[in-house]
Amino acid sequence: MDAQTVRDVDVEGRRVFVRADLNVPIEDGRITDDSRIRASLPTIVYLLERGATVILASHLGRPKGKVNDALRLKPIADRLSQLLGRPVRMTGDALGPGVQVAVDKLRAGDLLLLENLRFHAAEEANDDEFARSLAGLADLYVNDAFGAAHRAHASTEGITHHLPAVAGLLMEREVDALSKLLRRPPRPFHALLGGAKISGKLEVVEALLSRCQAVLLGGGMANTFLAARGLELGKSLVEEDQAANVERIVAEARRKRVRLMLPNDAVVAPQIHRRARTQVVAVTAVPRDQMIVDIGPATRKAYAEHLGKAKTIFWNGPMGVFEVPQFAEGTNAMARTLARRSSHGVVTIVGGGDSVAAVERLGLAAKMTHVSTGGGASLEFLEGKTLPGVAALLPADTEISDPAEDA
Ligand code: 3PG
Repeated sequence: MDAQTVRDVDVEGRRVFVRADLNVPIEDGRITDDSRIRASLPTIVYLLERGATVILASHLGRPKGKVNDALRLKPIADRLSQLLGRPVRMTGDALGPGVQVAVDKLRAGDLLLLENLRFHAAEEANDDEFARSLAGLADLYVNDAFGAAHRAHASTEGITHHLPAVAGLLMEREVDALSKLLRRPPRPFHALLGGAKISGKLEVVEALLSRCQAVLLGGGMANTFLAARGLELGKSLVEEDQAANVERIVAEARRKRVRLMLPNDAVVAPQIHRRARTQVVAVTAVPRDQMIVDIGPATRKAYAEHLGKAKTIFWNGPMGVFEVPQFAEGTNAMARTLARRSSHGVVTIVGGGDSVAAVERLGLAAKMTHVSTGGGASLEFLEGKTLPGVAALLPADTEISDPAEDA
């Protein structure tokens, strides 16, 4: 990547503020997917092994500037302790006198986790005073939070005005992998897009139309395209206010000669429930009292065949309500297809929380070329947007001064 990384700096004896994205799903106090924590380990271990002191910080959820006990980082500290095989101490706040006392006690090779940064409204407001105070805890800043790099917050952007700022190993891996999709990916390049809504993904679909040879749609977002063709979809989720946008995308795909594939059959159910009675129907024959919950077997086959021709595949978003096991077959089939293609040398990149969760759950993550820890961040990156957290890092050719020499 075009930025300095931890490997470009002598970190021994330095106090390093590491911004990670430890924003993991937690249900009833239990972490249901720890992939972001595991993905953050290489940078933490790298720094600790080289005699740095690590002050680790993250957000969790969206507490909107207020302390919320359900969003404390304690379960994350516990999981980190297990993974690192050493106790991880944490502070009761992200900033304040208690934090300073804890930081002052740190020695080389120590690790301290700060409490949820977003308990302070100043974090998301990118308040300069807050950023300066965070910076005051350390003498080097490492951004490893690719998943939050699309946010210009105090701990992702503001802090870089007060400390030399370099990328962590995960940040570097993410930027390098996703950049491949922007710079001449092996063709054909096919995108598989799903998830509930098209409204949040218009820009990425449009960006992909300029890069891909085919875009295959599933999940709720495909319903809005099917409805725009005049199909009656019963109780299925359809974003009626997106009809004009969908028409524009369809016209653009035609103009650019990009194949836009939609499901031709679907799994339907009367409600979203584990034991709901399901049936497979053509998308032209969805009963009025049923809703689409997954792509059907004919669509799975057609998509797998089409992806079989690709040399590069990007996947974001599940094909159905995959959290319910009996509605997950379409999503699971796509995960298996990508894993198979990977073993034939195809570049397979998975981005976005839900599709990543599906791949992780099936134990297929290691088979993919790259599984991104970024949801919104990976999509914005593919839209070609500049991510503030990446742009704020020191360019690759900068000299970084050693604070010991400056003193
Ligand atoms: C994510 O989950 O995509 C990142 O952690 C960013 O979270 P946010 O959307 O709440 O800023």
